[in-house]
Amino acid sequence: MSQPSYTETAFKDFIGEQGRLQLQATTFLKQEFALLQQHGLSGCQSVLDIGCGKGELAAMVAMLTGNATVHAIDNNAAFIQGNAVTYRSVENLHFFPLAAADELPTTYDLMYAKFVFQHLADPAGILQQLKASLKESGRLVIIDVCDEWISMDPAIPPLQSLILKSIGVQQERSGNRLIGKQLVNLLKRAGYTNLRLDLVPITTEQIGIDAFFQLVFSYRANFSTNDVDLPALYHQAVEKVKVLDHFFCTTLICCVSGERPL
Ligand SMILES: C[S@@+](CC[C@H](N)C(=O)[O-])C[C@H]1O[C@@H](n2cnc3c(N)ncnc32)[C@H](O)[C@@H]1O
Repeated sequence: MSQPSYTETAFKDFIGEQGRLQLQATTFLKQEFALLQQHGLSGCQSVLDIGCGKGELAAMVAMLTGNATVHAIDNNAAFIQGNAVTYRSVENLHFFPLAAADELPTTYDLMYAKFVFQHLADPAGILQQLKASLKESGRLVIIDVCDEWISMDPAIPPLQSLILKSIGVQQERSGNRLIGKQLVNLLKRAGYTNLRLDLVPITTEQIGIDAFFQLVFSYRANFSTNDVDLPALYHQAVEKVKVLDHFFCTTLICCVSGERPL
């Protein structure tokens, strides 16, 4: 039976997945903040983080932009409750469960969604809806992945199988691990204008092989599915890489933004 792509039941060990999510969020926090700045954050008075997870980036945006009001929303009510406690001292930051989306102010200068669109069943429909929540000339920024942009040397067959099979598992749950390459066209079709695009490489040289595996691949071994033995593929890949003298792997993170036309 199909189940949503990012919920407690989608993972064998959701506590473990939350640890990985936090590691991912903290490892790249400064770069992600810099990306938001390049895509129009500076000078914004009202910002919405869509699918904020554990709230790290929303907190950084609130603290470093000072006088902007930052709202952060997520469909995981437990995340929202925890974030409200963790960041209670950040006065310009407010967390909302998706169920309370009606309480949000109607329009924002900038909205962003990081690693969320890969979990949406109807990204085109959501892009249309979000346009109505942007001020005129406000920007929507989307940061996400495309698994076709993962590249390695030498080839590790179990790792390649893990990547392909996890694309399939996420797709069965109405998610899309190839969304990154589709974002430019999705935004254009939804009527966003003045598009900006950055493709940011993440490599094993930059963060080390262990961290790369942890951040980019361990997630897939934790998918709650009995169809294929994803943990076995992950562990075979780790063992194969361990005995190599050299291993290089890279992926690209896509950051694309567009403006609500006047
Ligand atoms: C991979 S996590 C990314 C979290 C955070 N943006 C980050 O980068 O650390 C995806 C998040 O999107 C949330 N999410 C998924 N679908 C959503 C929806 N339709 N509306 C709001 N949040 C959603 C999940 O609960 C989860 O917290």
